[in-house]
Amino acid sequence: MCNKKFIQFHQSYIQQAEIKEVVDTLKSGWITTGPKTKRFEEEFKNYIGCKHAIGLNSCTAGLHLSLAALDIGEGDEVITTPITFPATANVIIHQRATPVFVDVEMDTLNIDANKIEDKITSRTKAIMPVHFSGYPCDMDKIMNIAKRHNLFVIEDAAHATESEYRGKKIGNIGDFTSFSFYATKNITTGEGGMLTTNNDDLADKARMMSLHGISRDAWKRYLPQNSPFVKGGQGGFQHWELFYPGFKYNMFDIQAAIGIHQLKRIDGFLEKRKRYVSMYNEAFKSIPEIVTLKTKGRIKHAHHLYVIIVKTEELKADRDQLMNEIQKNGIGVGVHFRALHLQPYYQEGSRVKGQGSRKNLPPAPCPLPQFKRGMFPVAEYVSDRVISLPLYPKMRVSDVKYVIKVVKDIIIRSRK
Ligand SMILES: Cc1ncc(COP(=O)(O)O)c(C=O)c1O
Repeated sequence: MCNKKFIQFHQSYIQQAEIKEVVDTLKSGWITTGPKTKRFEEEFKNYIGCKHAIGLNSCTAGLHLSLAALDIGEGDEVITTPITFPATANVIIHQRATPVFVDVEMDTLNIDANKIEDKITSRTKAIMPVHFSGYPCDMDKIMNIAKRHNLFVIEDAAHATESEYRGKKIGNIGDFTSFSFYATKNITTGEGGMLTTNNDDLADKARMMSLHGISRDAWKRYLPQNSPFVKGGQGGFQHWELFYPGFKYNMFDIQAAIGIHQLKRIDGFLEKRKRYVSMYNEAFKSIPEIVTLKTKGRIKHAHHLYVIIVKTEELKADRDQLMNEIQKNGIGVGVHFRALHLQPYYQEGSRVKGQGSRKNLPPAPCPLPQFKRGMFPVAEYVSDRVISLPLYPKMRVSDVKYVIKVVKDIIIRSRK
């Protein structure tokens, strides 16, 4: 031990412009969804090059809204990956539909598109790929399967704001794409998300459902009638009408104030992370127990996370022991992700109501198989071996060098 300071797993990069914009919003007299959210939506839409961008309070909200707007519900199945954050599958269950897992590729940790078709049944309604760490999934294959089987595609792009697949920006390919601006994401609004689509009707429906399911944006109800944000100008008082039992998922202007300035610096942030990824990859070439993920292909990688797979079968220590050692040396680490089907909810979710459960968990509201180890071998292998190392623009080159030194030393010391 120990570097003079703790290198956090992540730190947001908030500058004076964000602070000024937030203060301006606070002083403006309008702090919830309003002109700044509108501006952020417009700027994000231009960045992605899509037709519609709907500001939300999270990526989870966007995934849930997508399912709801596509009328996916009870009795339906949605294909997704077990190597993801719980939110991806939680929202499927919120709709009382069944998440159907497909194993992942070892070199990207993305859903293995070659294994999707085996899982399609007459109940399958959608595929929900996750662009793990910002490496795009094989969207040509996925869109082709979706077309042949008449399925919707909802992309979880929580990690993938900058990603491109074969020259197309993520956010333009599936029926819906949901992005995250959570505190650790590539750009942040603290909490927040954006849902994109190129379908006008779906955009209208999702936007309406994002704010209670009513016909006019709430914020416009209180604007002067001659405001540029009110269609038709001096039209007098307008009642709103309820069309769906919608949700309260709207982004608000304090979040957007941060996002507007984060978006301006998105390319610079990525350049820094790319540089650090190259340093890590180069350094770990000499350590055969460390497997690094694929970074090249006909894609642009968003480099949200730096994940290594440690071949712990060749070491004296398991993943958690290695992580503890790294942390003791003043470095924050993460795990992205432990396979979802091994989590207690999925292990016990297929129980019949009333039967005992280790943790007294509620039974799932949808049919689930009896999940066991062995069902998704690649996901299970990596679930026990992945470690995420710090990767963010506020890090310095010296921090990256220190992380490399510590990780290499610990692995070498753990050899059998
Ligand atoms: C793959 C993935 N999907 C969805 C989410 C949820 O994002 P949010 O916190 O914006 O709802 C996350 C968050 O970490 C994630 O990693």
